[in-house]
Amino acid sequence: MPKHTVVTMSGDGIGNQVLPEAIRVLDAVGFDASYVHGDIGWEFWKTEGNALPDRTVELLARHKLGLFGAITSKPKKEGDAELNPALRGKGYTYYSPIVTMRQLFNLDICVRPCIGFPGNPLNFIRKKPGGGFEEPQVNVVVFRQNTEGLYCGVEWTNPPQAVHKALASHAKFRPFAKVKGEELAISVRIITRPAAERICRAAFQWARNYGYKNVTICEKPNVLRETSGMMEDVAKQVAKEFPEIPLWSTNIDAQTMWLTKNPEDFGVIIASNLFGDVISDAFAGLVGGLGFAASGNIGDEVAVFEPTHGSAPKYAELDPPIVNPIAMILSAAMLLDHVGQNKKADRVRAAIAAVVGEGKVRTYDMMRIPGGPKAMAQGAANTTQMTDAILARLQSVGMRDKVGAAH
Ligand code: NAI
Ligand code: MG
Repeated sequence: MPKHTVVTMSGDGIGNQVLPEAIRVLDAVGFDASYVHGDIGWEFWKTEGNALPDRTVELLARHKLGLFGAITSKPKKEGDAELNPALRGKGYTYYSPIVTMRQLFNLDICVRPCIGFPGNPLNFIRKKPGGGFEEPQVNVVVFRQNTEGLYCGVEWTNPPQAVHKALASHAKFRPFAKVKGEELAISVRIITRPAAERICRAAFQWARNYGYKNVTICEKPNVLRETSGMMEDVAKQVAKEFPEIPLWSTNIDAQTMWLTKNPEDFGVIIASNLFGDVISDAFAGLVGGLGFAASGNIGDEVAVFEPTHGSAPKYAELDPPIVNPIAMILSAAMLLDHVGQNKKADRVRAAIAAVVGEGKVRTYDMMRIPGGPKAMAQGAANTTQMTDAILARLQSVGMRDKVGAAH
C-alpha cells in the first residue's frame, strides 16, 4: 500500500490541465502515493447546488492531503441563473469551495513562496541610478492568515434588524444608520488572538528553519486599530520567542510601493487574509506571475496545496493546453515538503530551475506573448512540453544526486 493517499481536486478550466502534469512529476520523483479524485467546482454548483460536495469533504477528512487545481466562480446573479432549475428557490447559496474548505478544516496557515528563478525573463528588474539595470534576487514567503479577516464570510446586504441595532450602538455608524435596506452592504473583518498567534508563530518558525533575515508584519494598524492592531500586537509578542530574527512592521499600502523599490530586503511576510491575498499576488508578479505562484493551505490535520491562479476559462478549451504548469508543480513540491520528502521537493525545484535557467523551453507567459492557439507557432512550449522538459531535467538532477552520493 502506498504511504500516502492524495485527494486530487482538479476543479474547473485549466485546473484540469495542470493537475495531471503535477502527478507526472510526483510519479517521476518516486513519491509513494496513490490518488483519489475529489469533485469540486462550478459544475457541482450548477448540478447539485454545492461546489464542494460532502463526498469530497469526507475524502479530505480521511486522507488529510489534497492537491487542488482551480475553480471557476461567478458573480451572484450569474451563479443563480446557472443553477439547475429544479434547485432554484430552495435556499441554495454559492460559497467558494476553496474558502469553505479552508474554514471547514481550519486550514488557517497559507504559505505563498515568491522566489525568483534566475534566468526567468519575467523576473523583476530595476534601473540602476548610474544607468543600466539590475535584477534583485527576490526570495519572499508570505504567510497569509487564511480563515478570518475580511474573508470570514460574515456579510450582508440589507443586514437584519438585530445587526443594524448592534451597529447603531457604535458612534461611527451614525452616518450609515439612515441608509435604506438594500442600499447598505456590510462585510465584517474578524481577527482572533489564537489564530493571529498561529500564523505569526508559523511565519517565525519558517524564517528560523530556512534562514530568512527578517519577518515583516504587513497590516494597517494606524487605521484598522482593533483588527490590524491585534495582528501587530501578537506579532511583537511572538517575536520575543525568536530573538535572532528582527520583526519589521509595514502598512499594506506602503508595502505595495516598497515591493518594487527594494523587494530583496524582505524575507517572511505575515498578513491577514485580504492583505495577504493582495501582497502575495503582488510579490508573485515580481517572480513570474501566476504561472509560478504556488501555495499551501495548512491546518493541524489537513493540508491542501494549490497554484494561486484561477481556472483561466479563456484557455481552458485549447487542445493542446498552453498554460504554464510550473505553479501547479511547485505546489506539488510544497506537498512533498509537508510530508517530509524534502529531498524530492528540492529535486523538483532544481529541475524547474534548470529548465528556466536554460531558457530553451518557455510557455507563452514566459515569452510575454499573447496566449492562444498561435502562441506555439511563435515558439512557445505547450503545457505538456514544459512538463516533459522538467521531467528530462529531473533525470539529470537525480543522476547528479546519485553521483554525489557515490562520492
Ligand atoms: P485566472 O488566474 O484564472 O487567470 C488570469 C490570467 O492569468 C489568465 O487569463 C492567464 O492570462 C493568466 N494565467 C493564469 N494561470 C496561468 C498559467 N498557469 N499559465 C499562464 N498564464 C496563466 O484569474 P481570473 O481570470 O481572474 O479568473 C478566472 C476564474 O478563476 C474566475 O471564475 C475566478 O473566480 C477563478 N479563480 C479561482 C481561483 C482559485 O481556484 N483558487 C483563484 C483566482 C480566480
Ligand atoms: Mg487570489
